Amino acid sequence: MKSLLETFLTLEQTALLSATLEAQTRASGSAEAPVVVRILNERKCRDVLDAGTGEGSFLLEVARQTRGGRFLGIDHNAFAIGKATARLRRRSIKNVRFRTAFFDAKFDRKRHDAILSRYTLQHSSRPADFVGTAFERLKRKGTLIAVESIEAYMDCHVPDPVWEAYRAALLKVHAKIGSDGNIGKALGSLFRTAGFRDVQVGIVLTSPSTVGVERFTSVVLATSALAHTLFPRLFDRRLVRRMDRWLLDDAGIERRDPFIASAIAVGTKP
Ligand SMILES: C[S@@+](CC[C@H](N)C(=O)[O-])C[C@H]1O[C@@H](n2cnc3c(N)ncnc32)[C@H](O)[C@@H]1O
Repeated sequence: MKSLLETFLTLEQTALLSATLEAQTRASGSAEAPVVVRILNERKCRDVLDAGTGEGSFLLEVARQTRGGRFLGIDHNAFAIGKATARLRRRSIKNVRFRTAFFDAKFDRKRHDAILSRYTLQHSSRPADFVGTAFERLKRKGTLIAVESIEAYMDCHVPDPVWEAYRAALLKVHAKIGSDGNIGKALGSLFRTAGFRDVQVGIVLTSPSTVGVERFTSVVLATSALAHTLFPRLFDRRLVRRMDRWLLDDAGIERRDPFIASAIAVGTKP
């Protein structure tokens, strides 16, 4: 069965998701993009495909920082691609294109130097096929980079019941929409099984100390709003209010330094 994000989303749902993705790019993206850019620059990747690009903010950030690359972002959600294209026009970046397309074995057969996928594999109902298709669509010595969450690793250095309640509610939402919020743990094995070699997986933490209180707070607020609006029973109003109050205490947030964990995996096609 398909996950929610592999199916049709309405314009309103896409707008809400896009607001969260934008906040995610500003927060987690500011820690993840430098890692992705370093890999693309070191390997001199010229032709890069982003599979499941969403509203495009993360890809545009990567493209802005990468030397000499050409980027194609695809997403099967035409509303998201509309937003990405509008964002591209506002920023007049020349080396990026966006297109509506579903990434699977039927996707066009052109081969790329690198394929990037961020927070998309977790929504795949067939993650092994997704990684296998990426293997097929890479040139020899091509690079696959996947950035994915590991919700189970979300934590604070002092145990905190509010952050634990937030993590538990998010895991329920993942289960409801047919996605795997812990797929970051499986990236190494998925890459290796598909045939990738020189596989490396690192963990990046998004926290007040790494991205700043403001960016951290905005991504948690945007995620709460999305989860509550779509699934009010799983992420109820009481939890939204509890999160709001918790996030108002800047000093407390800085002291606890709660974090969101993402895994960044890289592999080479032999
Ligand atoms: C959580 S969003 C992440 C968007 C973007 N990569 C980011 O990091 O902000 C996942 C996106 O993948 C898209 N998607 C999911 N499966 C896809 C597939 N097989 N092919 C193309 N797009 C896909 C969804 O429509 C959604 O926009």
